[in-house]
Amino acid sequence: MEYRKFSKFDKPVSLFGIGCMRFPTIKEGNENIVDEAEAIKMVRYGIDNGVNYIDTAYGYHNHQSEVIVGKALADGYREKVYLATKSPVWLVEKYEDFDRLLDEQLGKLNTDYIDFYLLHALNKERWDKINELNVFDFLEKAKAAGKIRYIGFSFHDNADAFREIVDSYDWDMCQIQLNIMDMHEQATVEGLKYAGSKGIPVVIMEPLKGGKLASGTTPEIEAVWNKATEKRTHVEWAFRWLYNFPEIAVILSGVSSFEQLKDNLRIFSDAKANCMTESELALVEEVRQIYLDKTKVPCTACEYCLPCPSGVAIPGVFNLVNSAIMYNDEEGSRRMYANNFVKENRDASLCVECGQCEEACPQNIQIIEDLKMSHKFLSVD
Ligand SMILES: NC(=O)c1ccc[n+]([C@@H]2O[C@H](COP(=O)([O-])OP(=O)(O)OC[C@H]3O[C@@H](n4cnc5c(N)ncnc54)[C@H](OP(=O)(O)O)[C@@H]3O)[C@@H](O)[C@H]2O)c1
Ligand code: SF4
Ligand code: SF4
Repeated sequence: MEYRKFSKFDKPVSLFGIGCMRFPTIKEGNENIVDEAEAIKMVRYGIDNGVNYIDTAYGYHNHQSEVIVGKALADGYREKVYLATKSPVWLVEKYEDFDRLLDEQLGKLNTDYIDFYLLHALNKERWDKINELNVFDFLEKAKAAGKIRYIGFSFHDNADAFREIVDSYDWDMCQIQLNIMDMHEQATVEGLKYAGSKGIPVVIMEPLKGGKLASGTTPEIEAVWNKATEKRTHVEWAFRWLYNFPEIAVILSGVSSFEQLKDNLRIFSDAKANCMTESELALVEEVRQIYLDKTKVPCTACEYCLPCPSGVAIPGVFNLVNSAIMYNDEEGSRRMYANNFVKENRDASLCVECGQCEEACPQNIQIIEDLKMSHKFLSVD
């Protein structure tokens, strides 16, 4: 296992951290529930083989992830790891909620302290809200009380919001989404380097784009990787592009089987920073282009078309269509559309064809027609 040292942390961190959002599941009735015994075995196997960073959150696996992690870390495992979990800031309505949630999490995790306590999934709106609720007063008191050791945040918004948040506090760490397809999205590679330049260690989530990069490979993509002198798997190249950056402290991967866990342990056994050659970086660009060439709707998610008076989440809908086609994941996009768009009244069928969005779109997308196509495509059972 590769370990990285940061002056902010009291001991080196393992570059591979286990993300406890994608444990193996079994079918019980109509529901998929976590295979708890297998998940506990996997977490312990990871720790026995060098992993010392475990990431969970209040809501993962229907609120059960923290409980399962607590059980996995019994029998002496807790002292061997850095334990990270996150404050579900969207549930905080008043100052006391911060304390109540933290105490509940300590109970679920069966521990007296959390190493890394992150403000979960910050965006500009949440950031403004929790500042008004005096979040840093809560965090510093929790630190002084020994309930948390390091203060951080995880992030899902654009590069400007990321800089604003980074500049607002002396953070111990932060967590961003980054992978070969998102290098110019969300916090971006520039954001990673900016945090690094301020001495803030960065933890990466969704390194395989939530698994889409693993399942979405094609013979055309494999042919590109085969041009490299060293033969590596598609998954290995995706991780390698990330661990090349010295600013990265930990790469979290959710593993849903022992096979994936062992594969990642192998990949991270020899994971050096600054290892990618120019010709290897050129191969990454070639692979990216193959994915990008499959883009169905050329939406850049600039959001100039929002808000739609009927509430249609225009770029979100187009993102699902593109993602389904680029990563061969129609099922995943359709599930997401039903649960996160139709149920939440922001799907494409709500369009009343007022035309306001088309006037605003710098890409000249025929939004009305493309929304009709998207709804048809995403609504198929
Ligand atoms: N703070 C936040 O807002 C936030 C958001 C997202 C994630 N996270 C955290 O970050 C962690 C990492 O993100 P992620 O789970 O999305 O990571 P990821 O590595 O992008 O995706 C994990 C999925 O990739 C596939 N996979 C992993 N290793 C593989 C291998 N060696 N070979 C083939 N497939 C492999 C599996 O997909 P299949 O299961 O489909 O096989 C696995 O479920 C999460 O688990 C969670 O702890 C935090
Ligand atoms: S045309 Fe449709 S999607 Fe566009 S703003 Fe009007 S209602 Fe919304
Ligand atoms: S304005 Fe056009 S490019 Fe921008 S998010 Fe809307 S549809 Fe996408």
